[in-house]
Amino acid sequence: MKAPARLVVLISGNGSNLQAIIDACRNKQLNAEIVCVVSNKENVYGLERARQTNIPTLIQLSSPQQERHAYDAALAQAVAKYQPDWIILAGWLRILSLDFLKHFFNKVLNLHPALPGMFPGTQAIERAFADYQAGKINHTGIMVHLVPDEDIDCGPVLNQVIIPIYLEDTLTTLTERMHRAEHRLLIDTLKKIIV
Ligand code: GRF
Repeated sequence: MKAPARLVVLISGNGSNLQAIIDACRNKQLNAEIVCVVSNKENVYGLERARQTNIPTLIQLSSPQQERHAYDAALAQAVAKYQPDWIILAGWLRILSLDFLKHFFNKVLNLHPALPGMFPGTQAIERAFADYQAGKINHTGIMVHLVPDEDIDCGPVLNQVIIPIYLEDTLTTLTERMHRAEHRLLIDTLKKIIV
């Protein structure tokens, strides 16, 4: 059997998608191990999830004085030490520049709670729900895509799923359904690319 794929997961918050990966590695749904969880914030619950499973963590804080390019170069150096096969942006709320990406071509993937070309950036679920209420759309979706460059939530799509929005939905019910579907889509995608 092939050696487990080495995953580095980048987070900025709750880490429910990180948890889905942790669980999938643990139940052998994925032939992979998370070799490091990186956060750009202290005291986020995702770090706690990693520590509970004895996964190494790295907190890479930015300072107002540090330029984005310097931050990204330092981050790349730190992540490279873990020799990742895949880098997963699972709720990572910073745009990565080529100073980071050029070191990991075709290895960085991002999960975004919208379909390709729709609602890039933050608050994607909120904006979709507002558009639904305005009668502009009747579904939204989720995608996993490669991150080749600095374009936001854009890049070759590896997997996507449509999520219908129902009459009885509130922002809360839609958000919950989206998150559950994200966990499934992310693991299904990783199963496809990790052979
Ligand atoms: C998810 O909705 C993900 O698609 C987006 O940020 C959220 C992170 O959630 N990029 P969590 O931290 O994994 O719970």
